[in-house]
Amino acid sequence: MVRLQEALPERYTKASPEELENWIDAAKQRLGRRLLILGHHYQRDEVMRWADARGDSLRLSSIAAKRKDAKYVIFCGVHFMAEAADILTSDDQQVVLPDLNAGCSMADMADLDDVEEAWNGLAQAIDVDRLVPITYINSSAALKAFVGRNGGSVCTSSNARAVLTWALETAGNQVLFFPDQHLGRNTAYQLGFSERDMSLWDPRKSDGGLSEVEMKESTILLWKGHCSVHQRFRPEHVAQFRATYPNGIVVVHPECSHELVEVADEAGSTDFIIRMVDQAPPGAVLGVGTEIHLVKRLADEHPDKTVVSLDPLVCPCSTMYRIDEPHLAWVLEGLVSGEVHNRITVPADTAAEARVALERMLEIV
Ligand code: 13P
Ligand code: SF4
Repeated sequence: MVRLQEALPERYTKASPEELENWIDAAKQRLGRRLLILGHHYQRDEVMRWADARGDSLRLSSIAAKRKDAKYVIFCGVHFMAEAADILTSDDQQVVLPDLNAGCSMADMADLDDVEEAWNGLAQAIDVDRLVPITYINSSAALKAFVGRNGGSVCTSSNARAVLTWALETAGNQVLFFPDQHLGRNTAYQLGFSERDMSLWDPRKSDGGLSEVEMKESTILLWKGHCSVHQRFRPEHVAQFRATYPNGIVVVHPECSHELVEVADEAGSTDFIIRMVDQAPPGAVLGVGTEIHLVKRLADEHPDKTVVSLDPLVCPCSTMYRIDEPHLAWVLEGLVSGEVHNRITVPADTAAEARVALERMLEIV
């Protein structure tokens, strides 16, 4: 989705790194406890060094909700994360995304119209009262609200297994999982389902490209969305890594393809990957399949271990990368002068339904 980010004034685009550092530092000091800067694990180091808290999307939103004295929450991450923070924080807290172009291409692969069309199409073939919608946290607030009003739940890469189990054991007998087919598929395999139990819903095709029999007989309907950063990792990368480091450990994010997860030693969320590296013994070698800024930071913070990206040509998450010091300085100096740039607000009715889906997840896990 294209969001309109106004051009930054020259003061910021032409500033030297030292000027930006001084301005950000001065604004942080002026704003004190009224300000909370959150840094997602995939942020670049120049931004991350200003973060008061680091974490995955859900952890950061929970921190914002607990820090009630933080009137301004600057979310150095992507759009859906800032929306989730706005949903979970109080009305007098304002959430700011330093660059509105920091979206998530995967979240944009499922929009409300397409999901509603899919739901209505499925209703012609199956009993949607027994179909449970599950949305990955990487999705718009409007989709979380859809899930909230249709008896489903949000999930993250850490708790997808528990949420899918809840959906099929207590809430219904079929699941529509969006927007990431890979997280859905990897989780379903983990739970013992096979390819025969899953079908791919392609929103560009009529009826998702599925026959009525496929709709009826699939326990898990996977939305055809993906993360372009994680989908790049291939089994060949693992083979190359193992040839170079025969005793190395391969750990990948579940947004990677199932073929990759099958040849990896471990698969898990960003927090899981961080824990694996933390807990590995000195001298360990780890080949990691996730966003490059996190991999590089893990390598820097563990000089006694070898931490490398599985893909030597890996590119960063280009939308996370939009957050930089000029944008950070611009929003912070705006706040000091009483102007809130780039506030992210979720309409109250959408937020209320989305909160139902988020709270359901928190009850499950
Ligand atoms: P987390 O939920 O672990 O923060 O991951 C978000 C993400 O975008 C992974 O690609
Ligand atoms: Fe979205 Fe992928 Fe970037 Fe995560 S890494 S924010 S899923 S595009």
